[in-house]
Amino acid sequence: MSLSQRAQAISLSVKLALDARAKALAESGRDIVNMSVGEPDFPAPAVVQQAASRKVLSGDVKYTPAAGTRALRKAIGENAAAVRGIAPFAVEEVTVCHSTKHALSGAVMALVDPGDEVLLFLPAWVSYVEIVRIAGGVPVNVPSRADCGPDFDAIERAITPRTKAVLFNSPSNPTGYVWTHDEVRRLAELCERRNLWILSDEIYRRLVYEGEPNLSPAALGPAIRARTIVLDGASKSLAMTGYRIGFAAGPRAVVSGIERLHSHLTGAPNTVSQEGYLAALSGAEPVEIAHMCAEFDRRRRWLIGALRDMGLSVPWPRGAFYAFPDVRAYLDERGTRGFCEDVLEQVDLALVPGTAFGVDTHVRLSYALSLDRIQLAAQRLQRFLEAHPKRKSALAAAR
Ligand SMILES: Cc1ncc(COP(=O)(O)O)c(C=O)c1O
Repeated sequence: MSLSQRAQAISLSVKLALDARAKALAESGRDIVNMSVGEPDFPAPAVVQQAASRKVLSGDVKYTPAAGTRALRKAIGENAAAVRGIAPFAVEEVTVCHSTKHALSGAVMALVDPGDEVLLFLPAWVSYVEIVRIAGGVPVNVPSRADCGPDFDAIERAITPRTKAVLFNSPSNPTGYVWTHDEVRRLAELCERRNLWILSDEIYRRLVYEGEPNLSPAALGPAIRARTIVLDGASKSLAMTGYRIGFAAGPRAVVSGIERLHSHLTGAPNTVSQEGYLAALSGAEPVEIAHMCAEFDRRRRWLIGALRDMGLSVPWPRGAFYAFPDVRAYLDERGTRGFCEDVLEQVDLALVPGTAFGVDTHVRLSYALSLDRIQLAAQRLQRFLEAHPKRKSALAAAR
């Protein structure tokens, strides 16, 4: 039996192999601190739990339209105006999806033809490259600045007559970098001038802890709104990962293309999750969210301080829940993957290698775990670095 070329071309994430090893070690009785998690360690807001439970108990859990219920599409459109400053999306400009990943893959499939190029700003979230490939597109990696912000010269250089879209993610996974308003304006101007679509992954939108809030390109006026697809969901900003619910919002033609694709591939989004999401978006923001953000902020400040005290260079993340230190000085020929394997085996700490995000210089630490566990993780990492054969030269290079 031979698999299709499509399936053969998709690689299994490096993270999965490390996750499996961490799990095996934990099962053998070792206390692994898992900093590779990509989801908030908080329950979904009470209003969500209540609305979802009510829906289940009503017994009335049937298919909805492929683009989701009208009530939820309307709430998403209005919420985008209230919290993102975008001119409200009409119901026809919103399609509800099973998750942000589903929204993103639908948008890529609706816009990208075989051979079309899509720019990814490195380091970029693991699935972007594979989603573009599945659609037959060509992912084009664009390096970023040392502080993980956009390098506009590199972006301009990467554009060719085949470039169709940019895949933009702010706040970023894995760096926590939040694009400044000036940077978003510059990207918007560039995409207008070069006739490109912007796929704007705003899944960490709410998780910004200081400075300017996140800016959606679609908020910059009708011309740029007409070439932007806003992609978001409930997973991170509302701590609803397992509900699997999200949306794509943008020009009707694209949204209807995504809807048609999804109607055949996945049918309708989950009815119970739609009710939960609707409850979260109707009225004031659930009270738990501000508390979650305050807690993430406390952990962020502590962790970045600790990593810098260890002599690591870490870009200051304004958002999401990740730190992305540079560990180049400690690497051997196995790169960041070998570094993460050693950290796991020697000090029982699970991290994600930068290769998962297209760069082999940094590692990702999630702070979506309690401060106690983060502090234990920091002690372990410090112990690992202090015993490392390259410690002296690494410290000298950092000075
Ligand atoms: C940048 C980014 N986009 C999209 C997703 C997918 O989110 P969802 O759970 O809504 O599919 C993730 C999840 O880790 C992410 O980090």
